Amino acid sequence: MKGLAGFALSILILLAPPSAGAQSKPKKAPAASAPAAPSPYAQRFATLCATCHGANGRSDMPGTPALAGQHSFYAITQLFLFREGRRSNEAMTAVAKTMTDADLRGFSDFIGTLPPVPAPPPATPPDAARMKKGAELAQQHKCTFCHGADLSGGQQVPRIAGQREDYLQMSLQGFKSGKRPGYTMAMSGAVSQVSPADLDTLAYFAAHFTANTAAGR
Ligand code: HEC
Ligand code: HEC
Repeated sequence: MKGLAGFALSILILLAPPSAGAQSKPKKAPAASAPAAPSPYAQRFATLCATCHGANGRSDMPGTPALAGQHSFYAITQLFLFREGRRSNEAMTAVAKTMTDADLRGFSDFIGTLPPVPAPPPATPPDAARMKKGAELAQQHKCTFCHGADLSGGQQVPRIAGQREDYLQMSLQGFKSGKRPGYTMAMSGAVSQVSPADLDTLAYFAAHFTANTAAGR
């Protein structure tokens, strides 16, 4: 098994600008980087991913994360972890295991172009006391330090604002139990001192977080 340094190095290689040597198929690259040609990965996403993740990257399926508004760097680390069997989920392992490095990059770049899609408005307004408690916990445990005051993340840190609550809950419990080893130790460290009940409150807070929450409304 490769150590974390090995994984980090592999990602750096994946993220390096494509050069002749990095292409999996020897293909003549266009002389200048021609912008704005629609990515073939948009089509492949529609065919292979949209059934579960939604055409616009927002899913209605239980346990299935919204990808809309997610950062390409974060997406590539996760596709890589699925491919290498470091993060396991039956559906995603099957999807990722045959991906080439170019596929990891292509899908991640496409995900990075999907604008955030807000969660459908809840039937009842979020519980104010629980939101307040969640905001306090997010400060206390430095969630906002890495994920940002608006929980939108950046680079290898995922957007968690407006993510599905069931998925957030499962992910946080997974980091705590070790079922989901992260790309780095950041999350296992962050949740080690947080009780399962507080993790659920944090999941509730992030899932219901909107621009209004940020503005204190
Ligand atoms: C059969 C349903 C299914 C299909 C098809 C599918 N996914 Fe997923 N995907 C999931 C589920 C479920 C998860 C959450 C996995 C977990 O429990 O950790 C996930 C997680 C992810 C994540 C990690 C998101 C995060 O916030 O950590 C990425 C990135 C992703 N999928 C991309 C893709 C791409 C790209 C495709 C198409 C090539 C695809 N998925 C196809 C069900 C699916
Ligand atoms: C030191 C920086 C850091 C801190 C502090 C931190 N996070 Fe994270 N978080 C990350 C990174 C980096 C990831 C990507 C996971 C990986 O390594 O694969 C992540 C992933 C997550 C995910 C998974 C999202 C997804 O789409 O799968 C959730 C949920 C999350 N963090 C919530 C929290 C909460 C709640 C807190 C506070 C208790 C917190 N984070 C504190 C950096 C941090």
